[in-house]
Amino acid sequence: MSQTISIRTAPFAGAAAPLTIIYAAEDAAPAGAAAAIWAATGLDWVETAAAAAFKGKQGQALDVMGKGGRRLLVLGSGKPVADAPLNGWTDRGGSLMHKLAATRAGSVSVILDEAGASAAAIAELAAGLRLRHYKFDKYKSARSDDAPAALAVTLHVADPAAAETAIADRNATVEGTLLARDLVNEPANILGPVEFAARAAQLSDLGVEVEILEPEALEKLGMGSLLCVAQGSDRPARLVIMHWRGGDVGAAPLAFVGKGVVFDTGGISIKPAANMEDMKGDMGGAAAVTGLMHTLAARKAPVNAVGVIGLVENMPSGGSVRPGDIVKAMSGTTIEVINTDAEGRLVLADALWYTQDRFKPRFMINLATLTGAIIVALGHEHAGLFSNNDELSIQLLNAGLNANEKLWRMPLAPAYDKMIESKFADIRNSVGRPAGSITAAQFLQRFVNNVPWAHLDIAGTAFGAGTSEVNTSWAPGFGVALLDRLVRDYYQG
Ligand code: BES
Ligand code: MN
Ligand code: ZN
Repeated sequence: MSQTISIRTAPFAGAAAPLTIIYAAEDAAPAGAAAAIWAATGLDWVETAAAAAFKGKQGQALDVMGKGGRRLLVLGSGKPVADAPLNGWTDRGGSLMHKLAATRAGSVSVILDEAGASAAAIAELAAGLRLRHYKFDKYKSARSDDAPAALAVTLHVADPAAAETAIADRNATVEGTLLARDLVNEPANILGPVEFAARAAQLSDLGVEVEILEPEALEKLGMGSLLCVAQGSDRPARLVIMHWRGGDVGAAPLAFVGKGVVFDTGGISIKPAANMEDMKGDMGGAAAVTGLMHTLAARKAPVNAVGVIGLVENMPSGGSVRPGDIVKAMSGTTIEVINTDAEGRLVLADALWYTQDRFKPRFMINLATLTGAIIVALGHEHAGLFSNNDELSIQLLNAGLNANEKLWRMPLAPAYDKMIESKFADIRNSVGRPAGSITAAQFLQRFVNNVPWAHLDIAGTAFGAGTSEVNTSWAPGFGVALLDRLVRDYYQG
């Protein structure tokens, strides 16, 4: 069982937990409320800091054991920066969680009275604490671990009421990110298309309308592209539509579409064995969309939004789609399946068409762990952004910087589009190695009409990107904070 965490706020008076955290800036003594707490140790600041080689740099810590079993931890906050970005506070929360975990404390008071600790900053710090606290350890047999079962954090702040409001609002986004992490981390034997759809259906508790389409309905809609991917699996496909109506009645919704391949063996064009286990994360796009819908509903976002996820499993079997097979998408476009491992675009072709056709959205953004080639291009630092719309692209790039889930724009062009022409059908699903991420994006664009559209290739960022200050899990939940930021900053007004 994972440790539980609770975070509350209180005024400065009466910090009495067995462990107290104060901050000191670079080359400066603790100030304000922290100064009084330090003074109670009876120690000389300059001498003690020098003896501990503590300079107040970000990441440094000075641990003091006091009388009566009280413990004081002084953390460096670095150089004060005017207009420091808010996501610096998220990282600070993550770093604090790391230090806290090492103390094995069950109850802690954190003194946050420095300049710049606005309600929004404190909410980021609280978010960082929770994001770093997350562990996916449900399949680990219980070990004797000296960490307490519960961790209670009290943030001592100037204006607790304002901080509480900001923390609750920001926590809606954290919950969405953690939901996305849980979904991506879950193995495919537990989370098939049917089980994933059931998890999405739970969003109805928050007021999201959830529809689940089964293969017969998808057949009737003409989704031959999506369905051909699922045909080799014993587990049937699902298309899930999540509808949040928080905006004006009848106003066009924002649309988010996700690739949900619960496991990608490659199908008949089977993948090599090395690292194939990672392909349980090939539903990272669908997980981000589901997490985002959770977030929008949990914070009662004043917008209309739809999330559409295509859930399939890509397996080799006697019933699998073959290289050379020609399938017909809902749009009427015929597709020659050259490589059954280029399955994500086949799923998205129908999910995108269906979404724009039914909802006439204000914009349509899809997320997909689509190509290994995007990892070759951008590594794990940026997700690839492809779009037919400059304004939407700039908004997304900004949201990515602010949420610290960064994007890098890649090109679309007629010359790349030509590359996906097929000898036998309208288009083919796989070309050669050159521009692999771009030709995949061009394929998707064939199923997008005049709506502002963006495709985020998150193959390098949805899992296995390494740990960060706010995440130690395999799956960071990439995309939820980014898209929530986009909605908050540009579409709520
Ligand atoms: N799910 C993979 C892409 C992927 C690879 C995601 C590594 C995360 C990590 C996708 O379905 C795929 O197999 N793409 C192929 C396309 C090719 C056959 C045109 C690829 O990238 O090799
Ligand atoms: Mn594949
Ligand atoms: Zn895939």
